[in-house]
Amino acid sequence: MTTNLSFFAVPVFWLLCVLPHSYGVLIMKTANNGHWNNSAPRSSNWHETLRKSTPKDIYARYERADAAHKNGFENMPIFIGAILAGNFAQLDTRTLNLFVTLYLFARVLYTIAYISISSHRYSVIRSTIWLLSTSMCLGIFVKAGLALP
Ligand SMILES: *[C@@H]1O[C@H](CO)[C@@H](O)[C@H](O)[C@H]1NC(C)=O
Repeated sequence: MTTNLSFFAVPVFWLLCVLPHSYGVLIMKTANNGHWNNSAPRSSNWHETLRKSTPKDIYARYERADAAHKNGFENMPIFIGAILAGNFAQLDTRTLNLFVTLYLFARVLYTIAYISISSHRYSVIRSTIWLLSTSMCLGIFVKAGLALP
């Protein structure tokens, strides 16, 4: 019997969502003599302070890392929902394992693409990965719907 790994994908995904934020804070600290004010990290005031004190390309990279972090959490509900739906409908374990593996792999690529691609031209790569990964979740919902009596 194959072990169902799908629920374990949730803590892995959570970690993948937090990491880009940690990376962003790290590069900001490095660019600002170790200074980071954590009292209101999402405030426009703080972003303005960072923007003024940091080289342009580093600040842009920080913004993209933070956007990858937020996008991860925005996509967490649909991923968790798909895992729950797939298990509720008792989809084949291999299907569920393949789904979470491919999804996490795609989201790793997405995160790397978000942080490293700064041009408009190549950002289509990132958006395509996002669309494909999200479609995987939607596909599991459809499969689950079809499997119900
Ligand atoms: C951090 O930011 C807050 C809000 O802007 C400010 O009141 C506080 O003095 C800052 N703390 C440090 C250590 O810079």
